[in-house]
Amino acid sequence: MRFAISRLCAVVLCFLGFLPVNKLLANNSEPDSVYLLSYTTAKNNYHNGLHFAWSRDRQNWFPIGNEFGYLRSDYGRWGAEKRMIDPFLLRDASNTWHCIWSLNENDNAFAHAASSDLVNWGRQSYPLVANGQRFMKPAVSFNKSTNQYHVMYESAGKYFKVITKDFKTYSAPVETTASAYNNGANETVFLPEGKVNGQIHRVTWSAVEELVKKFEVQQYRGGLHGETTSQDATRFAGLKPVEMKLQLQPANAKPISDLLVGVFFEDINYAADGGLYAELIQNRGFEYQPSDRGNDPNWNSLHSWKLVGENATLQVETAAPIHANNPHYAVLRTTQPGAVLINQGFDGITVKQGDKYDLSLFSKQLEGKKGKLQVRLVNKNKEVLAEVIVPVNNSSWKKTSTVLTARASAPDAVLEIKPVSAGTVALDMVSLFPQKTFKGRKNGLRADLAQTIADIKPRFIRFPGGCVAHGDGLENMYRWPNTVGPLEARKPQRNLWGYHQTAGLGYFEYFQFCEDIGAEPLPVVPAAVSCQNSGTGGAGQQGGVPMEEMDEYIQEVLDLVEYANGSVKTKWGKVRAEAGHPAPFNLKYIGIGNEDLITDVFEERFTMIFNAMKEKHPEITVIGTVGPFFEGTDYEEGWHVADKTNVPMVDEHYYLPPGWFIHNQDFYDKYDRSKSKVYLGEYAAHLPGRPNNIETALAEALYLTSIERNGDVVAMTSYAPLLAKEGHTQWSPDLIYFNNAEVKPTVGYHVQKLYGQHAGTEYLPATTAISNNRDAVKKRIASSVVRDAKTGDLVVKLVNMLPVEVKTSVDMNGVPVSGKEALKVVLKGEPASKDTKPVESRMEVGDNFNVELAPYSFTVIRIKTR
Ligand code: AHR
Repeated sequence: MRFAISRLCAVVLCFLGFLPVNKLLANNSEPDSVYLLSYTTAKNNYHNGLHFAWSRDRQNWFPIGNEFGYLRSDYGRWGAEKRMIDPFLLRDASNTWHCIWSLNENDNAFAHAASSDLVNWGRQSYPLVANGQRFMKPAVSFNKSTNQYHVMYESAGKYFKVITKDFKTYSAPVETTASAYNNGANETVFLPEGKVNGQIHRVTWSAVEELVKKFEVQQYRGGLHGETTSQDATRFAGLKPVEMKLQLQPANAKPISDLLVGVFFEDINYAADGGLYAELIQNRGFEYQPSDRGNDPNWNSLHSWKLVGENATLQVETAAPIHANNPHYAVLRTTQPGAVLINQGFDGITVKQGDKYDLSLFSKQLEGKKGKLQVRLVNKNKEVLAEVIVPVNNSSWKKTSTVLTARASAPDAVLEIKPVSAGTVALDMVSLFPQKTFKGRKNGLRADLAQTIADIKPRFIRFPGGCVAHGDGLENMYRWPNTVGPLEARKPQRNLWGYHQTAGLGYFEYFQFCEDIGAEPLPVVPAAVSCQNSGTGGAGQQGGVPMEEMDEYIQEVLDLVEYANGSVKTKWGKVRAEAGHPAPFNLKYIGIGNEDLITDVFEERFTMIFNAMKEKHPEITVIGTVGPFFEGTDYEEGWHVADKTNVPMVDEHYYLPPGWFIHNQDFYDKYDRSKSKVYLGEYAAHLPGRPNNIETALAEALYLTSIERNGDVVAMTSYAPLLAKEGHTQWSPDLIYFNNAEVKPTVGYHVQKLYGQHAGTEYLPATTAISNNRDAVKKRIASSVVRDAKTGDLVVKLVNMLPVEVKTSVDMNGVPVSGKEALKVVLKGEPASKDTKPVESRMEVGDNFNVELAPYSFTVIRIKTR
């Protein structure tokens, strides 16, 4: 009997758990089984993944889910790669489905993934065939007598096969015949939209229903997640102000993590060089390379430098560098003094009248008498702002340090270096730092930016990435030992965001910054695999550090603990002490991996590193990784690895529309408390056009109330990314924008700061009664109450994402209130507003009190209880 409900309604009921899936549109006239065709198309350059169609008679075919991609390739870079060409689907004797596909027209690799239901697919692997071969047009057959699969493919007009029993290990390729290949069962089928090639299997009708359901649930969710405030006028037409009654339930209070709000620093958007790292000279070491930036010839060792004037030449040499890690240096030949070598800084050098600047450079006189360099800061009108003479009286590299004091301010000065006599001088590591760095540290951080971060009161700092941590290919992984020790011996490298990383802001500086702001350091090291979107490094991104190098790599990770915490008598503790910090940095957490593609290659390496860390440093809390999304293969497989290894915490990432945050406030309510804890290491609400505005900020504030509620399983969170320099931004939205002169915190920043400054150690549940019963209304009002053990203060956070006021009454239910005045902070504005700031006031509170939540607002009330 057909259900008297619409298909969509049924899907929703199934989704919500009210209707068993196998009852979805059950109908006695439906077939027990049908034919299922699997195929893909060349549309969108083969990016659309694996499709299905069904048929009762192999003649009339019905596409499922409007070419929905049930399985998509995760191989190689976004854009050009992640293609699925000619997928071949087969079912093994245990009813497991295997899909083999061709990745592209060049690589000697192919892809495999398996599924028990065609809906949920496990991890992908990318086995290699012979060097120089291409893997095109796969066709797979099963040899019953040997119990082996023959994976056949075409390469340059010839046919080859590799043999496997388990789709994990494969024989070496051998040539095969066209007729053997043709037995691989590819079929041509006419669909309503045209001719396609694929494989036909007989499946149960319920398998088709599951496929349909997957698509329809996806559509349904897409609708919810796509909800934005731009539809609010219609969605909430005629809505009257809403009333909410909160009654605290102090008897049910539970402890929550005291590390909930931290920051995630990644060198993206010029966050480090040209950003937080206070160095004012760009390309100080002459190490920029075209390969840093997609082989851009203008991005070279002389980028940001120019020689102006006559009778002089400038060259970059590598014959006798200061250090092998820093191989390039400039050679300035002057036959008659007058010419100047100019550095333009990062969009100019901003100097302030009266401020002192530490200048240092390495030089050596190669030819001519002992020389001198006139070093000046000069503004746009060629007025000299500061000047100093630097002697060069050495024939081997020598560092000279001096101070420049600015006579006047300028937003975009340049540094000029002018030899005062004829001769040839070599120069390297030309550096200029304001003395007013954050906490006055040498080689320090830009004070205003660092202070803006510190104002969040982050309980931890995750660094150095993000994708920067695992790198674009193995050679680009961020190796921490390259970033400590003397600056001239650090190893700069290509930043995968398309620029150059000096490593001047390295592990020492990160640890120091954490200490300076009282945040726990949370370094993330690669899990011996590189970024899931890398274009280089083994078979696409997942070659992994070769097994024969793993011992050395694991030792490097263990050494990080020694560097941070070891006594000065240890090898690495000594290096830390030599940098000026004999006391340990008290490292407690290490992230291993960053949203990696979860493959066998990953799991093997992650487990090796994790086990070694557990054995050598059980005191360190290791944080694993579960992919870049809140669902899907990497998320599922990452959690399987977490379950297997029992890693204490995993790092989850998701960038999603505000609608997702509104409709998934229960995301962590269901998390199993006996499993690994969660670090929500990267998240942000993304609207089309990627603004950071009141709408995104309120969606984040709303979601964070649910994070506080789940602060027993979610241990840490950090918005991402943190910093972005105007004009150099690869990713948006970001939390804090800046230019050389100004810091521009976003509205999202204020949400983070309010959560950071008003964090708690205990969560007090509250019963909530809302006068309007519409789901759309209820989901847009959220509250959270926490108590801070140190001060005893109670913090009530209230979010209203409705276009009308929410009149709220709070019943403290016996929680004592000390003094009648409470601090009230309100962030509100039109959803599109980007520049609203929180407003502080005092308000009367008591055992019961009322507060009106303005439309589109976030309110924080801090109440003294002692
Ligand atoms: O935060 C920006 C990027 O987003 C990070 O580098 C990466 O981990 C994620 O994909």
